[in-house]
Amino acid sequence: MTASTAVLQRLRDRASALDAADPLAAYRAQFIGTEGTDGTDVVAYLDGNSLGRPLKASAERITRFVTESWGARLIRGWDEEWMALPLRIGDAIGEAALGAAPGQTFVGDSTTVILYKLIRAAIDARPGRREIVVDTDNFPTDRYLLQGIAQECGATLRWIESDTAAGVAPEQVSAVVGPQTALVVLSHVAYRSGFLADVPEITRIAHEVGALVLWDLCHSVGAVDIQLDAWGVDFAAGCSYKYLNGGPGAPAFGYVRAGLQASVRQPIWGWLGSSEPFQMGPDYEPADGIRRFISGTPAIVGMLAMQDMVALVAEAGIDAIRAKSVALTEFAIELTDAVLAEYGVTIASPRDAARRGSHVTLRHDGFRELTGRLWEQGVIPDFRAPNGLRIGLSPLSTSFTELFAGLDAVRTLLAEAHPAA
Ligand SMILES: Cc1ncc(COP(=O)(O)O)c(C=O)c1O
Repeated sequence: MTASTAVLQRLRDRASALDAADPLAAYRAQFIGTEGTDGTDVVAYLDGNSLGRPLKASAERITRFVTESWGARLIRGWDEEWMALPLRIGDAIGEAALGAAPGQTFVGDSTTVILYKLIRAAIDARPGRREIVVDTDNFPTDRYLLQGIAQECGATLRWIESDTAAGVAPEQVSAVVGPQTALVVLSHVAYRSGFLADVPEITRIAHEVGALVLWDLCHSVGAVDIQLDAWGVDFAAGCSYKYLNGGPGAPAFGYVRAGLQASVRQPIWGWLGSSEPFQMGPDYEPADGIRRFISGTPAIVGMLAMQDMVALVAEAGIDAIRAKSVALTEFAIELTDAVLAEYGVTIASPRDAARRGSHVTLRHDGFRELTGRLWEQGVIPDFRAPNGLRIGLSPLSTSFTELFAGLDAVRTLLAEAHPAA
């Protein structure tokens, strides 16, 4: 039996009621493409966990930068403003979204390169320990980097077998760490399932055996409450183009706990991470503090848009953002159970909101083919092999009505494919 018109109407009404009661609803209009009058064909954008929508303020900031800053200040811009940006924006991200005091966060290279620098710095800080712990479902770049670094440094990877519909539990970490563990590298929110790892507990377990931890925050920063200082995290990195809306290829951030900075070195010894870059001296000496994690000329153009979103996250508050994220993922699950389950769609994300980030993954063997048809209609989730449809819910730019429209489009296409269901 297919979803009745009455059930659909009830869910549509619920979406409207949830939007009407949403204290963050007004923020949505600040994003380009959300009003249906700005020339885009987008009906439902459900991929804010891959690439956040641009803010209108960013369009203005980028234009102003070209004319007033780059265009008018020219090379003077470096001294006047740009050289300070990687640490200034780092501190703003730290305050708004990481629970990090100033002086511990920088914006620099791609996530991949920052992860490389931090992993190398961490294992060099634990000489004599030859093992790195990682899970089999961590994001490919994390796993590939670790494979390369293990080869480079003669280290051994200890793999945790993780469930692709869940994530890594503290007991699994306890079972593999020991006196040989130099570093544990895990994702806060699993890119596939959306599982939210217990960072404080896993960090405690790693520290108990003398190991360091590095958390990949790509799928949590800006959507989930993070308290790096309070949790005692050593290293973290995350991208700025998902829930921080920095735009395609915007540079990532890295975090290094203040107490570790003086004793660790990163492997890419560039001039702008050196103590006196403009002395042009013969030998590299790392700068004091977090600046030593920078290598070359900062990607200033790439750092423009994220500043607007970081300011918006600070204004809305991460607790309110997290509350809306939970409400959105709960509604996605409710819709799936009510109108998609009958076509064989299953949920490959935790049902417990406390263990779930800001996306929900649905499974169905027809999703590969269906995703292309959804995109043609302006309904944009993403597909992850072998059969996952990721519904990414960016709390400040996604409405409940948009989410209903997106999953109703999935239902319509499944109903066409399975007329007898
Ligand atoms: C969890 C996670 N880690 C790392 C990356 C890689 O980031 P980049 O391609 O910016 O280096 C991504 C990209 O989506 C990711 O989702």
